[in-house]
Amino acid sequence: MSSAYPRLFSPLTLRRQSLRNRVVHASMSTRYVSEGRVTNKLIDYHVNRARGGAAMLVTEPLNLLPRQRNPQKVRVLEAANAPGLSRWASEVRSAGALLLGQVQDPGRGRHQAGRNHDAIGPSALPDDLSWTVPHALDTDEVAALVSDFAAGALVLRDAGFAGVEISAGHGHLFHQFLAARSNRRNDRYGGALEARVRLLTDLCRELRARCGDEFLIGVKLPAEDGLVGGIGAEEAEGITRHVHATGVVDYLTWCWGSHSRHLGWHLPDLHGVRSPYVARIAELGRLAPGVAIGALGLITDPNEGERIVRDGLADLVMLGRPLVTDAAWARKAAEGREAQIRYCVSCNTCWGAIISQGTLACDNNPRVGESDEADWRPAPANKARRVVVVGAGPAGLEAAWVAAARGHDVTVFGASVEVGGKTRLHTLLPGGENLSSVFDYQFLRAREHGARFALGQRTNLAAVLALAPDVVVLAAGATPAWPEWLPADYRDAELFPDVRTLANSLVRRSATTAVAALPRTQGLAVVYDHDHSAFTYATVQRLAECFSEVAIVTPREGVAEEEPLVNRQGIQRRLAELGVRVYGFAQPRFDERITEGRLALGSVLVERELAVLENVVLLAHAMPRVPNDELTAPLRAAGVEVHTIGDCHAPRSLLVATQEGNRVALAI
Ligand SMILES: Cc1cc2nc3c(=O)[nH]c(=O)nc-3n(C[C@H](O)[C@H](O)[C@H](O)COP(=O)(O)O)c2cc1C
Repeated sequence: MSSAYPRLFSPLTLRRQSLRNRVVHASMSTRYVSEGRVTNKLIDYHVNRARGGAAMLVTEPLNLLPRQRNPQKVRVLEAANAPGLSRWASEVRSAGALLLGQVQDPGRGRHQAGRNHDAIGPSALPDDLSWTVPHALDTDEVAALVSDFAAGALVLRDAGFAGVEISAGHGHLFHQFLAARSNRRNDRYGGALEARVRLLTDLCRELRARCGDEFLIGVKLPAEDGLVGGIGAEEAEGITRHVHATGVVDYLTWCWGSHSRHLGWHLPDLHGVRSPYVARIAELGRLAPGVAIGALGLITDPNEGERIVRDGLADLVMLGRPLVTDAAWARKAAEGREAQIRYCVSCNTCWGAIISQGTLACDNNPRVGESDEADWRPAPANKARRVVVVGAGPAGLEAAWVAAARGHDVTVFGASVEVGGKTRLHTLLPGGENLSSVFDYQFLRAREHGARFALGQRTNLAAVLALAPDVVVLAAGATPAWPEWLPADYRDAELFPDVRTLANSLVRRSATTAVAALPRTQGLAVVYDHDHSAFTYATVQRLAECFSEVAIVTPREGVAEEEPLVNRQGIQRRLAELGVRVYGFAQPRFDERITEGRLALGSVLVERELAVLENVVLLAHAMPRVPNDELTAPLRAAGVEVHTIGDCHAPRSLLVATQEGNRVALAI
């Protein structure tokens, strides 16, 4: 037991099954399943979280019904999967944790592009996001779901799973039955709340009857979906009471949002407060005495977890993204090694990765899904080499700490006096605060392993060669390109900054005085958006606090197309709240009218002037970036082994930066 977090690391018994502490891995889709089969990677992912100290792990949704054939989910009924299921459960148990399978059907819900052509649902009404209209199940078909799900759960129990969690929120099938908005039935599964909840409560009872007294049953309920006719406070309370009244449930947790404009609510980020749902979860939990309550949603820090259990707000601390970022979150916290945790930065890259048909990925964990992931330490190099890293952003720092940890002699050059590169600037903008965990972790580890830092000077060929390096890792980032439509002679004019320069000056402006206390500049600030990433919108958000009017002009249809849908929704909402105008499919037609504060916008689709913006006092541009790779050729010509990584190789994302930094340091 840790002295720092005695409550978080106190054991709990649920139905004669012991949890060694209160840390639970919330269900996360990994896309590690192949052709419906349990894979080694899927098992490794969970075993690493068990080795990393979590007490209980909820799997991603499994195919439990005969009709569920999605190849990205494990087909529990397939005989060929039996050994894999048993190994999955037993390896997690051997590593000290319990494994629960998730019971779910998406129903009409879909958050990828397109519609779900195989959807079932309570009523033939469109999904609020994908507009999928499901086949409305008849009464017998609904009743069959109950026994079919329970039959699938029995297979799990026999394979050694400790229990199941029913995913009844997130806008999926059970949620669709619970909400009057999507359930217009007039049989025993529709009408008043007590009928709409019947599919769920029948299933809870059937699971208990079929799977016995020791089998754990958890339920993830909807707390609020923000939709008219959906789940509001009253419905959530009623549902909780009904589920509690079954007397068979072991734990409850709640999630927010649904398949709608509020999909992003289920993944809160730093644009709001930390742990935003805990207080409401505690309130709902009080309606279910005797049932363990799971706190969930942007709980990233062990102190938050400790407070939640200590104050009696919940019994379990459920972590989704934080355990993707660090499989050993719990073990490190318990051992007083909090500074060695790679913290979730709520960028939602993980969600974007699985939705775009990739596997789980993480900006702050380049090792996610590796078999040796939990508490990973780089293996020593065969031969220590002299390594120079140029660039102290996340790509360079990742390479630096891993190379230093492997025993190489590492020197890092950084142009700024502080490490972190552009990511550090992002931390000073709205919503970016937690990103500091990326470079803080890397910098601490690099220093710990003896890397030397030469910061605050842009290095050059001679300075690098003077160190007689065996290897140079170039991670000097990239510089925004100059827009074609803006004459080059405006480069030094303050009125036409690139978005990074703009962000810097906004951050400086607000560094000493609260933004709200500063006078707003009257006039229209325009941002030409050829970037579509979070950094640009964080800058725009700050800009909107400083100028009376702000507009975004972009050649694409809307905004934030490089961001996962869950983030895009938040960005769109914040821009709307701030009154930022968006001109899509548009490009500035820059001419002398700008001297009178007028900017014409042309259509990118047809030869037409779309609008003339008046009173323009600032015209900023967020452009694709150009690699800062000028040292590559001369170093190679000097016979040095050179690796370019991150934006310096080709301008991409933070995810690629940390991945490439890690990979290159393991290769040298
Ligand atoms: C990549 C990703 C995949 C997820 N997959 C599931 C899922 O399959 N089933 C589910 O109930 N919740 C899923 N969730 C939601 C999480 O279980 C959890 O409710 C959410 O991430 C909020 O917790 P956190 O702030 O600790 O991440 C997923 C979340 C993410 C980010």
